[in-house]
Amino acid sequence: MTAPNAVFLKDYAPPSHRVHHLSLTFELGENETRLHTCFRVTPDAPAGRQAGPLCLHGRGLQLERILVDGSAPPATAMNHDEHGLTLTGLDGPGHTIEVTTVLRPRDNTALQGLYRSGGLFCTQCEPEGFRHMTYFPDRPDVMTRYTTTIIADSRRYPVLLANGNRTGAGTLEDGRHWVTWHDPHPKPSYLFAMVAGDLSVHQDTHVTPSGRRIGLQVYTEPRNAGRTGHAVEALQRAMRWDEEAYGLEYDLDCYMIVAVDDFNMGAMENKGLNIFNAACVLADPRTATDDDLETVEAVVAHEYFHNWTGNRVTLRDWFQLSLKEGLTVFREQQFCAETGSPALTRIRDARNLRALQFPEDSGPMAHPVRPGSYLDVSNFYTATVYDKGAEVIRMLHTRLGDAGFRAGVQLYLRRHDGRAATCEDFRGALEDATGTPLTDMATWYEQAGTPVLRVRGRHDPVRRCYHLLLSQFTPATPGQSRKQPLPIPVRLGLMDPGGQLLPLRMDGEAAPAGCERVITLHAEHQQITFMDIAEPPVPSLLRRFSAPVALDFPYTREQLALLLGSDDDPFVRWDAAQQLTLDAIIQALDHGGTPPLPTTLTQAVERVLAGYRDDPAFVAETLALPSEDYIAEQRACVEVEAIHGAREHLRHAMGSHFAAWWCDIHTDCAGSHAGVPRQRAAALRRLGHLALAYRVAAGAAGVEAALRQYHETDNMTDRLVALALLADADEELARQPLLTFYRRWGDDPLLVDKWLRIQATAQAGDGLHRVQRLMRHPAFDMGNPNRVRSVLGAFSQENPLHFHRVDGAGHAFVAERVMELDALNPLIAARLVLPLTRWDRFDADRAASMSRQLERIGNRPKLSKELHEIVAKGLAA
Ligand code: TRP
Ligand code: ZN
Repeated sequence: MTAPNAVFLKDYAPPSHRVHHLSLTFELGENETRLHTCFRVTPDAPAGRQAGPLCLHGRGLQLERILVDGSAPPATAMNHDEHGLTLTGLDGPGHTIEVTTVLRPRDNTALQGLYRSGGLFCTQCEPEGFRHMTYFPDRPDVMTRYTTTIIADSRRYPVLLANGNRTGAGTLEDGRHWVTWHDPHPKPSYLFAMVAGDLSVHQDTHVTPSGRRIGLQVYTEPRNAGRTGHAVEALQRAMRWDEEAYGLEYDLDCYMIVAVDDFNMGAMENKGLNIFNAACVLADPRTATDDDLETVEAVVAHEYFHNWTGNRVTLRDWFQLSLKEGLTVFREQQFCAETGSPALTRIRDARNLRALQFPEDSGPMAHPVRPGSYLDVSNFYTATVYDKGAEVIRMLHTRLGDAGFRAGVQLYLRRHDGRAATCEDFRGALEDATGTPLTDMATWYEQAGTPVLRVRGRHDPVRRCYHLLLSQFTPATPGQSRKQPLPIPVRLGLMDPGGQLLPLRMDGEAAPAGCERVITLHAEHQQITFMDIAEPPVPSLLRRFSAPVALDFPYTREQLALLLGSDDDPFVRWDAAQQLTLDAIIQALDHGGTPPLPTTLTQAVERVLAGYRDDPAFVAETLALPSEDYIAEQRACVEVEAIHGAREHLRHAMGSHFAAWWCDIHTDCAGSHAGVPRQRAAALRRLGHLALAYRVAAGAAGVEAALRQYHETDNMTDRLVALALLADADEELARQPLLTFYRRWGDDPLLVDKWLRIQATAQAGDGLHRVQRLMRHPAFDMGNPNRVRSVLGAFSQENPLHFHRVDGAGHAFVAERVMELDALNPLIAARLVLPLTRWDRFDADRAASMSRQLERIGNRPKLSKELHEIVAKGLAA
């Protein structure tokens, strides 16, 4: 393999020139698009020094013309290589640069820069897509105002959109028309967007507290008209929330969202013109599932919140990615908690972090929230940067309190408005706004790996006190063998054996201050003592999941049952349930056979079930078993079949033991619940579906019930859950329902994705063979990332039993698809290869098979930079 060059944070150098205004003119053609740009630059060197050469990034471009101050630059003043153009001699007061490039959007399968999706043209510029359109300083710290003109055929492309406000339009004599947009806010190139097509629009308005009326527009291809109502309402809620929670108003006259079918990620926050993966914005009231509605709301809010955290204040360089993503995910989490259920939102945040980020942090891709180097920045849109980044922000929020945090964010936005910032700038603003030193938090940005928080308790009956010994340890990660202690906020309480939280008075304090407090562990070890504790208590630790760490406390089953039954912290209750079921699964794993359910577990579950109507969604989260991946994380070596078998055993045992409960709950909770508020109905259904899953696990009667639900329901969530359970349980039985589903809904790509995913993740039958067949199905399309994720992504990430077949056929199959994809869409190829990099976690045969496939990919000539980076790191482990 040839090694591409790495980029280092420590090498950051400010831009050599400022750009003053950029104008872009797109002449869109069916096969060729001409892009004319014109911009003025002035040197930006410290006084007395000459400006360096001007670097214009550009990749794979056909350059038709370049003019500097109206004439072609001499060959001696221009250097051209595969990264772009370097111009020298641009000192003096200012220069005008004009560039014309010729683009072929139809051939752009990587979906970065200008590309076609269905009948429309659209762009994706984050992180480095702009350089696939023209030569320009494509770096986030170069900001300027944009004017964009789009010229296209009026019939095929009646709607022409770009960032900002529409300032002009007209028709040409040849059947084309043009529209000009001007964005008054300076922005980096990654926030540029342009869309052209025959689009339907759903319009609404939002009035800000200062009385400005904002036009809201959601654009879709005409066949998707009528599926945008939920997104518009979510947008209005998000706008209102940001006004109330942070005092932030929207800053343009219109806010546009466009849905596209082919998209590498979820959505993109381009200034005033968001582009969304159709799956994250469309929701047909008849066909959207409960999860779809939640996803759409969360993603719409996330992109909207970027308007301040990301756009108004942007990034100095891509190492600071978490400055916008971590903060925006945190704001999204706050919004979801405050407009939905705080308890459930937090449980899902924690579950998500453990399921996706913890494994990343313990594998060959482990990197800090702010990485120190990368080969390709698009590989750093990770769970660590987004979700661990959000947890780091949450710890700052915990330390400063809500009012202090809000004041800090406001100072940050005021101080850096219209400019590019760093993670230190953010921390500095929080410090200055609150007078609280926060420098110790830097380690959370710089150090990779999940810290283990070890807690041990000792009760002293004579002195009636309780000692807690807290310690921390972070395992080594690639390139970081020695770790520093981190400041870990541990929110805790102490529960007496009767289930009451005790008033907390620490050694040296005169009076107790509440039943909950946050102790921040700074050093490697720390002991704390609580007074007036008559009997040995049960500590309630890491309440509300106060830090992104793995907790190690030797709870007994009885203690876990007490926390589950009596604690008032939903995260601690949920986690106690997870540990109780995990413990039962591990018993089965370690001792083999089919051990009976421990009585402590069944009694605790019984208590949870008794209250199911009060909080059905919480009960559903609590009684869902840990995933096979999460169980695997707890083991020294991933025993694929044994883990599957042990979990199946527990599913069956829980299904049979509580058969009567599951039957009642399923009948009571599944269904459409006409007249019940949407969130309540969804919560009931979630529990109803867990009950159905346990019925299926218990045996044939459950499978019958799933079949009945499939046929009889009028609710899409019910129908899809039933279909998934059938496909998972019995390939033969599922055949007919799968056929009828496709016949009925096969023209809706969002439902086709779900149909593909159900089959790709099913345990029954020969999973690999099924996936191979799906790839030959007319609905499959290797060029569409959603299809690829539904089949190949789902198979390799969510079907361990078949993907990790011991003969290695699953590994070889995915490796071949990765190589095919690399030529089409390197970003998607680089994501798909990730599961193969975890070879070190498996037994010798599987490890050999996985690393052999990685080597095979690595040995291919002409590997993309994206894929190369992941494969090389995967092999180095
Ligand atoms: N900034 C986008 C977000 O809201 C992420 C994103 C969208 C992205 N499209 C992309 C990242 C393409 C890399 C490549 O999180
Ligand atoms: Zn984002």
